[in-house]
Amino acid sequence: MEDVREEEITRAGAGVGTSEHHVLNVDERSQKPIKPLSFLLCFNNLTYSVKVRPKFTFSSLIARRTAEPEKRTILNSISGEARDGEILAILGASGSGKTTLLDALANRIEKESLKGTVSLNGEVLESRLWKAIVAYVMQDDLLFPMLTVEETLGFAAEFRLPRTLEESKKKARVQDLIDQLGLRSAAKTIIGDEGRRGVSGGERRRVSIGIDIIHGPILLFLDEPTSGLDSTSAFTVVNVLKNIARGGSVVVMSVHQPSYRIIGLLDKLIFLSKGQVVYRGSPINLPLFCSKFGRPIPDNANPVEFMLDLISELEDSTNGISTLVDLNNTGKSSERADAEKSDVVSSLTEALNLGISKGKLVSDNINTSNVKKTFANPFWTEMLVLYKRSMTNSRRTPEIFAARLITILTTGFLLATIYWQLDDSPKGIRERLGFFAFAISSTYFSSCQYLPVFLQERFIFMRETAYNAYRRSSYVLSHAFAVLLPLFILSLAFSMTTFWAVGLTGGISGFLFYFLIIYASFWAGNSFAVFVSGLVPHILLGYTVVIAVSAYFLLLSGFFINRNRIPPYWIWFHYVSLIKYPYEALMRSEFDDPTKCFRRGSEMFDDTPFRNISGDTKERMLGSLSASSGTNYNVTSSTCLTTGLDVLKEQGITDLNKWMYLLIIVAWGFFYRFLFYLSLLLGSKNKRK
Ligand SMILES: Nc1ncnc2c1ncn2[C@@H]1O[C@H](COP(=O)(O)OP(=O)(O)OP(=O)(O)O)[C@@H](O)[C@H]1O
Ligand SMILES: [Mg+2]
Repeated sequence: MEDVREEEITRAGAGVGTSEHHVLNVDERSQKPIKPLSFLLCFNNLTYSVKVRPKFTFSSLIARRTAEPEKRTILNSISGEARDGEILAILGASGSGKTTLLDALANRIEKESLKGTVSLNGEVLESRLWKAIVAYVMQDDLLFPMLTVEETLGFAAEFRLPRTLEESKKKARVQDLIDQLGLRSAAKTIIGDEGRRGVSGGERRRVSIGIDIIHGPILLFLDEPTSGLDSTSAFTVVNVLKNIARGGSVVVMSVHQPSYRIIGLLDKLIFLSKGQVVYRGSPINLPLFCSKFGRPIPDNANPVEFMLDLISELEDSTNGISTLVDLNNTGKSSERADAEKSDVVSSLTEALNLGISKGKLVSDNINTSNVKKTFANPFWTEMLVLYKRSMTNSRRTPEIFAARLITILTTGFLLATIYWQLDDSPKGIRERLGFFAFAISSTYFSSCQYLPVFLQERFIFMRETAYNAYRRSSYVLSHAFAVLLPLFILSLAFSMTTFWAVGLTGGISGFLFYFLIIYASFWAGNSFAVFVSGLVPHILLGYTVVIAVSAYFLLLSGFFINRNRIPPYWIWFHYVSLIKYPYEALMRSEFDDPTKCFRRGSEMFDDTPFRNISGDTKERMLGSLSASSGTNYNVTSSTCLTTGLDVLKEQGITDLNKWMYLLIIVAWGFFYRFLFYLSLLLGSKNKRK
């Protein structure tokens, strides 16, 4: 190990080549056999601070006008470099700024907030190229619990590898990766979560790393890849990383308490304390550094642990860490200048081309001179893969769909028995209206079940779109397609259980229309729920919003209060009510028959104290009423007083054709899907301010 390092140091120190590499022509280069360093990531004076609002107290309220928000420096002028073939480890106590430094290096902090520069081979990268060559493995494993290891990596391959690559090559790449990550024995196991046993924590960690390195990124950042793992698993993970680095990538990771064996794999260390660098250099020089500081590392101590203890001790002391920071800085600037002069760093274009020829960046979206395509796949492929993934996911959790089906069947059964064979009487009208209103609103309330779907996926979605795995639009569309079949089955089940049992009119064509309206309501309700899930950060909030809004939709749908009785300042809500349209559509279909009678002369006394008198007496009363009215009306017991059309008129349903209603409901569904898309577009910025 030490030999290798010494060799590297001599190579760097010997000043091979010249800094004028970019003017070399091919002939000159062929005369110089020394292969230049391929990638050099440099960061200079990275400084990042956040504004912390002062605590809100009454006294501060008065003093507030003058009090500026406090500025808190999280990274304080951090410089360093990392090369391919090496692992740079960032160490420090919790809260020292490790994750923030990684975020800064991985271009995950807004440009305006971060001072200093990050460059690769001397070039500050444009964000699209950056997305294509960088991978960032976050601290939490964000994976679909129901997919197997192989499938998870397979989908990552579909997203990140270019379409020009043959299917068999993609498969081979996945298999290679499984071997490389030591996941062979777990390949067919599901990832699992709290509820279902799946792969072990260490294996899950390696899968997380796997999906980010599938395309052979040039820069690989990892936030605490070993945390929570036992020392053997941790070592395996770092070993895998070392191999990736040796393959020509720059690996930067933060790490807590590395063991002896892990330290042996690290090439460079950066110790942070309160956002400042207290040590930067190779682990081999650490003992010397500590000795210089006057605190030599005891023979049996783990040098990293010793250093971390020392830092925490100094942080608590009166002088603080400034002496350590100063000691670290002495000689660093001159050393840096030397290093920069001596390193032969090829231009980024050359280096990327070399990398690609070595099998790095298995992607055709890199064209170093100009980034033409940002996404690896065309729209339809993305959609298909996403659709396949969500189908696999739902196939693995049949109990969720079964629960939905049972709920809908229960509602249908309840309604069928309660509203069994409604008759054509004034009561029948009221009961029909009640049935429609409830049936429709139950489809909306049951849409709540779809809320968790996106909320659960949100972080996976954010991670995947952060590196342009797919377009947001294809996600939204595939999401929509994925619900069509389940909603179809639910609507069919509900329509079949209720239509004939309740005794609705229209025969087969009436049933078909009824089914379509139920299906469309499910679709619109589902779109609405999905839209809410794109807006709210938390599931409980989501439920609250969807249930409350559905209740308002119902309130102003026209069932509880007729349109002409709604106060003018609320009438707009009537028109945006998603329940209004299906409710009116069903009425239209049910009562659109002028020959159908819902109230005859004999039923005229039903709501009066005369309802119990005999039929003959009623007939006579009707006769004398007609005679004394002074009109031409002659009402008998069998005269029809209210036809279907009269019902519609009374309910204010006069304006729209029934197919128009269907169209409007479907359109609402699309509208909310579009809003969902906008919410994803605007809401999922993956950067720190
Ligand atoms: N937006 C913010 N506002 C205020 N403080 C912040 C903000 N973001 C980060 N910090 C603070 O910056 C410090 C560094 O955070 P960071 O997440 O980088 O620590 P870390 O070294 O990764 O810690 P850990 O090892 O626990 O993950 C912490 O003290 C954190 O509280
Ligand atoms: Mg952290």
